[in-house]
Amino acid sequence: MRELIDRLERDRLLTRDEFKAVLVCEDKYLHERAKAVRERVFGNKIYMRGLIEFTSYCKRNCYYCGLRTGNTDAQRYRLTKDEILSCCAEGYELGFRTFVLQGGEDPYYTDEILVDIVRAIKYDYADCAVTLSLGERDYKSLKRLRDAGADRYLLRQETSNEEHYAMLHPSDMMLSDRQKCLKNLKEIGYQVGCGFLIGSPGQTLDCIVDDLLFIKDLDPAMVGIGPFIPHSSTPFAGEKRGDLQLTLNTLAVLRLINPHLLIPATTALGSLEPTGREMGVLAGANVVMPNLSPEYAREKYMLYDNKICTDESAQLCRGCIGRRMNSIGCEIVVDRGDYSDV
Ligand code: 5AD
Ligand code: SF4
Ligand code: FES
Repeated sequence: MRELIDRLERDRLLTRDEFKAVLVCEDKYLHERAKAVRERVFGNKIYMRGLIEFTSYCKRNCYYCGLRTGNTDAQRYRLTKDEILSCCAEGYELGFRTFVLQGGEDPYYTDEILVDIVRAIKYDYADCAVTLSLGERDYKSLKRLRDAGADRYLLRQETSNEEHYAMLHPSDMMLSDRQKCLKNLKEIGYQVGCGFLIGSPGQTLDCIVDDLLFIKDLDPAMVGIGPFIPHSSTPFAGEKRGDLQLTLNTLAVLRLINPHLLIPATTALGSLEPTGREMGVLAGANVVMPNLSPEYAREKYMLYDNKICTDESAQLCRGCIGRRMNSIGCEIVVDRGDYSDV
């Protein structure tokens, strides 16, 4: 196994069967190498992004997600431009230099409205990066938002296997559309983040290898992965949660595939396991994304059950995540944390 892990670090590629063997391996050497590679590139510095969950409305119906339009129990809200700017103001004071505007696919937010919000943030906080995470939009819309100043865009492909994609989404959603959107984002000049769920219903190790190969091909700046966690008001309410070890191993493999990749230790990982985010960083992650959303909104942005940080304030989460990183010898930096492959 160690020979295989060394070869992955050196060649950044393995055969399909070799990838599968590494993904399920229990040798702690995998996480040690991933951590060493992270430290070589980033030292003990961890980048921080402030997540602003600005709308819980979504027109999509992904089977795994609590915000799906079919979930009539979901509580819906939209933040105004002023509310979003207040989140940024508080975040800036707390040392955030990246703001991530994330929401469901909410047609209320037209290009005009979003352009106005992005411009306002970039005007007030010229030294900050703005990341958008708004689901699939057409080329023209993505281009307008980029021209308005948006720097980055996160869009998880969720799975790179056609058959598996169809098990997670209704027939009006297609993997090819999602992949096309990711290619468009790169072409337009965004720093692009993709990602996928670990342990979503129907996922096999081959699906994960498909994701790794897709990522090698796309060459994104960031990859967000987190365990699937069931939500009680979705078709997947009774399904099993994603596996902690498999999530950490996948994260470590991603670090070895691309030493410069931005890899968040996700909220889902921290929701699955109390010290999940620390474990993620020890397995190669180098980004954390604490919540900057107003407190009234947090409990309404329920992607899955038992999501952490829904009762805490932005200030409390900032302190908490800082202490958590310190406890494992890491340090959060006040920095945009742009992708650089040199
Ligand atoms: N468990 C874990 N992650 C989820 N997401 C949506 N639903 C769930 C769930 N049940 C993730 C998706 C999406 C991101 C915003 O939240 O991967 O891209
Ligand atoms: Fe909407 Fe995204 Fe949830 Fe799908 S995963 S239902 S697109 S918020
Ligand atoms: Fe939110 Fe710990 S990071 S409570």
